[in-house]
Amino acid sequence: MSPRIISTAAELRAATIELLTSGGRSLGLVPTMGALHEGHAALARAAREENDVVVATIFVNPLQFGDPNDLDRYPRTLEADAELLGDCGVDLIFAPSPEEMYPGGQPLVRLSAGLLGERFEGEFRPGHFDGMLTVVAKLLHLAWPAADVRYRAYFGQKDAQQLALIRRMARDLNFAAEIRAVPTVRSAEGLALSSRNRFLSTAESEAALVLSRALRLLAERASRCEPLDLDSAVALVESQPLVKLEYFEVVDPETLEPLAFNCRDTPFTGDGLALIAARVGSVRLIDNQPLAADPVGVQS
Ligand code: PAF
Repeated sequence: MSPRIISTAAELRAATIELLTSGGRSLGLVPTMGALHEGHAALARAAREENDVVVATIFVNPLQFGDPNDLDRYPRTLEADAELLGDCGVDLIFAPSPEEMYPGGQPLVRLSAGLLGERFEGEFRPGHFDGMLTVVAKLLHLAWPAADVRYRAYFGQKDAQQLALIRRMARDLNFAAEIRAVPTVRSAEGLALSSRNRFLSTAESEAALVLSRALRLLAERASRCEPLDLDSAVALVESQPLVKLEYFEVVDPETLEPLAFNCRDTPFTGDGLALIAARVGSVRLIDNQPLAADPVGVQS
């Protein structure tokens, strides 16, 4: 059954109060832009498992699109999205209009992602992370349940830079919500699920698998505490003619600063995060892989 869909902030407040009055002590928020797939379903299911009340939001945020054509082209599939969220046990969908979210038009005051928002994806999509943080901040405020209700918000590991920035925003600006990361959902072959995958041809989908293959190679080397030899992983991706690599870097998971000395020829220690972006045909794909050395596994 599809959950109730509401579109105003006032309705959201009233509906969450009503849902919580029957004794709910926790609320999970799942912000999305719709065009949902199994990756989003994993967020909703994680929220369902951990909370009494689950609210999903569907809002295609104009502030995070640089190109107005991209904003127009973004798929709007509310009916199918509502069905998927209902199957995951979501209680309520907040699907506001742009006018409801930004009553005065484009907001004058916005959040800035700072330096963390300028590298990697930020270099290819100027202003994207400022717009993303601004809407996430608003959604977190709008769905805030009450001081005595545990509040969690769910984001995919797939968008690792977005996740790092939201965590940073929550910490820097004292947001009440606990930010929960949900692992990337992949196809059986390894391709990270994304609403853009639908635009790949069969040959391109096959070619795109090189991204997850290269990431897996690094994860294996990291867990064995071997040098990552990033150059060989880069060469693997570049050997695929349909793939045009944009960046491939190993970084600190929190600061996203490149781990320059931990990835070439010294044994890998601690944690890292491999970030990759590439064009496959006309489709731009991103993926990532958390890396962790496992010295115990190496000894046994
Ligand atoms: O990841 C997304 O779908 C969006 O960036 C988000 C977090 C819902 C903000 O619009």
